[in-house]
Amino acid sequence: MTNTELSSIVNTDPEKPANPRPIVSIGTGGIVTDAHLPAYRMAGYKVAGCFDLNGAKAAQVAKDWGIERSFDKLDELIAFGEEQGAIFDVAVPASEIAGIIRQLPEKSGVLIQKPMGESIGEAQTILKTCRDKKLTAGINFQLRRAPFMVAAKQMIDAGLLGDIHDVEMRVVCQTPWNLWSFLFEKERMEVNYHSIHYIDAVRFFLGDPQAVYSKTMKHPKMMELAQTRSAIIMDYGDVVRANISTNHGHDYAPDEQECFFKIEGTKGAIKIQIGVILNYPKGSVDKFRYVLDDGKGWQELDISGSWFPEAFMGPMGGLQKKMEDPDYAFANSIEDAYKTMCVVEACYGSSANGATKVDYGF
Ligand SMILES: NC(=O)c1ccc[n+]([C@@H]2O[C@H](COP(=O)([O-])OP(=O)(O)OC[C@H]3O[C@@H](n4cnc5c(N)ncnc54)[C@H](O)[C@@H]3O)[C@@H](O)[C@H]2O)c1
Repeated sequence: MTNTELSSIVNTDPEKPANPRPIVSIGTGGIVTDAHLPAYRMAGYKVAGCFDLNGAKAAQVAKDWGIERSFDKLDELIAFGEEQGAIFDVAVPASEIAGIIRQLPEKSGVLIQKPMGESIGEAQTILKTCRDKKLTAGINFQLRRAPFMVAAKQMIDAGLLGDIHDVEMRVVCQTPWNLWSFLFEKERMEVNYHSIHYIDAVRFFLGDPQAVYSKTMKHPKMMELAQTRSAIIMDYGDVVRANISTNHGHDYAPDEQECFFKIEGTKGAIKIQIGVILNYPKGSVDKFRYVLDDGKGWQELDISGSWFPEAFMGPMGGLQKKMEDPDYAFANSIEDAYKTMCVVEACYGSSANGATKVDYGF
């Protein structure tokens, strides 16, 4: 199949509501200025107000991004958002989420940055609060909305790869964790804050695993962080293999770093290099390569847009479409995201319970 023929199958334009609502931001930290605001600007969504515990920061972000109002108090931002019929875009450390959404008006729309709490208990509190307040809620697991992931899903759904039997996510990189100071106090770090994206992406392709095997661990040069490397097997039975392997402490030259997501089926395979993770924060290029059973060998498909920031248009557009049409299948719904949290919880359980002991006796 040629790339021209593929263009009738692949369309990575993000979905958009018919009548976009304004957005108000709660939390104006790194992810908001690096990804939310650039993505919303690209999509043409208006951010009308913002609030941060650090009021000066919110005011500066408002000034830099042409946001009409910044607020020193959360209740004032919420009243303003309600009056505007705005979507509440919450991007704060996970431990803060429940306390914030409890204060939102009934039936409003809210998009919440991942993770959905620090543990399954917090995820349940968040889910229950959203249900009780009848919020239209989503969690920002936006890797599944990255244009390269959307393209892969469309090719798979069109049957081009046959039956999928192998999914692998591999990260070998040097991550400057000092950029996120709040992570240093977390008991659950690598899986809950990073591999969670890959778990969610694997679920996007394969559905819910029946079980997991996992070990998440420290790095000798990053002992201040609870864990920075993980090995996860998502168990889909006897035929489908799904592995996530992350090592964020590979300090041996940027060119030797790796970050790819590979999917193999009975008729073809796709291998995606995810550039943003390589040599972070400088980054490298994405590469989307595929091979089908047409004798043409590996080919490269040019895909416009990346994980950061383009993928961030998808969860916001999808949430707003869900508000317009309650039957809309919103890919980042809180109900679906909760299942990713269940898998994360199982990973920590597996890691804590330990592996099968080796019996060297005879
Ligand atoms: N989806 C992604 O790919 C991605 C990437 C990075 C971060 N994140 C998530 O986004 C969240 C924020 O990360 P960040 O990188 O912006 O961190 P950050 O430290 O740069 O910013 C966090 C901001 O939240 C503010 N804040 C804390 N508690 C608050 C509260 N109760 N009310 C209002 N503001 C509050 C802080 O003052 C700070 O400005 C984290 O949960 C993180 O996991 C997601």
